[in-house]
Amino acid sequence: MRLPRSVRGAEVAGKTVLVRADLNVPLEDGRVADDTRIRAALPTLKLLLDQGATGVRVCSHLGRPKTEDDRAKYAMAPVAARLRELLPDARVQVLENTRFDPGETSNDERFARELAAGCDLYVDDAFGSAHRAHASTEAVAHVLPAYAGLLLLAELEHLGRLLGEVERPFVLVSGGAKVEDKLGVLSNLGGRADAVLIGGKMAEQLRVENPLKFEVELPVDVVGAAEFAPDADTGIFAYELLPDDWLGVDIGPETRTRFAQRINEARTIFWNGPMGVFEWTAFADGTKAVAEAVAANQDAFSVVGGADSVRALNELGLADQVSWVSTGGGASLELLESKELPGVAAIPSA
Ligand code: 3PG
Ligand code: MG
Repeated sequence: MRLPRSVRGAEVAGKTVLVRADLNVPLEDGRVADDTRIRAALPTLKLLLDQGATGVRVCSHLGRPKTEDDRAKYAMAPVAARLRELLPDARVQVLENTRFDPGETSNDERFARELAAGCDLYVDDAFGSAHRAHASTEAVAHVLPAYAGLLLLAELEHLGRLLGEVERPFVLVSGGAKVEDKLGVLSNLGGRADAVLIGGKMAEQLRVENPLKFEVELPVDVVGAAEFAPDADTGIFAYELLPDDWLGVDIGPETRTRFAQRINEARTIFWNGPMGVFEWTAFADGTKAVAEAVAANQDAFSVVGGADSVRALNELGLADQVSWVSTGGGASLELLESKELPGVAAIPSA
């Protein structure tokens, strides 16, 4: 794998540095629900401050804002507040959500120049967004001298282990909401794994239309909810017996046992995406069961990626039981596919 040049080699004393971090954290009631990605950005920010940078401007996207109303919902203020608590230094400034400008997702040079204005160099530490060719991850790297941050490099190093020969069985567990994004990746990736376990919305989608050319294990039973609400009436159903007007919101107990068994036998594990609507306690057990199984297998090289899976792991206090907690969801999947990530490709080589 080609490695981008490290921020450690950059001359930053007296400079103003633009840092792209992935601060796209889960929010709940306007507060940061899991600050893993913010903490993961700290080593690079501290390095820059220690090396005498005069200004550190941190930018990130947050969520997928579409409407005007989304501006309040996805403002960076709560993220900036958490970062200030963790790193109180007046030289650090958090810019507003990059996706509030349409030029971000269209990888517009005009927006890249706006971000770069007044900065001397650019450090990309947003591994979780490296699969996006956006203005703050790609275009800007051609406007300013670009370097890779410590997190980005550490992610490439650890995930790189999954790219070569891995110990088998290699078990891939996938779920979560971004079905469209992940299906394509899974089709390319699944062939490399010995077992592919799928839960969540993705499993539903695969029953409607399955473009995958390899076998996957889908839930045999589900937790059903009479409506999409945290306090809905619930019941356990064999998948085919879920009433038509009910929703499947988590994997059922039989599926948990089967998935845990597979995970237990694995020597390499990659898990991305929750098994259900785990933010709601009544529908969290499937995701918990997967988290516990991954953490319990101490013989495997285990990688957990994606903001929600990592949040689940943290809530169970299990993050230190897995080999590598990746801040990348989609990005780690695409890296596993052996794709060159645009955010990495834009940085000159080491
Ligand atoms: C993620 O959470 O996977 C990254 O922050 C990228 O977010 P996106 O899928 O909205 O581009
Ligand atoms: Mg996400």
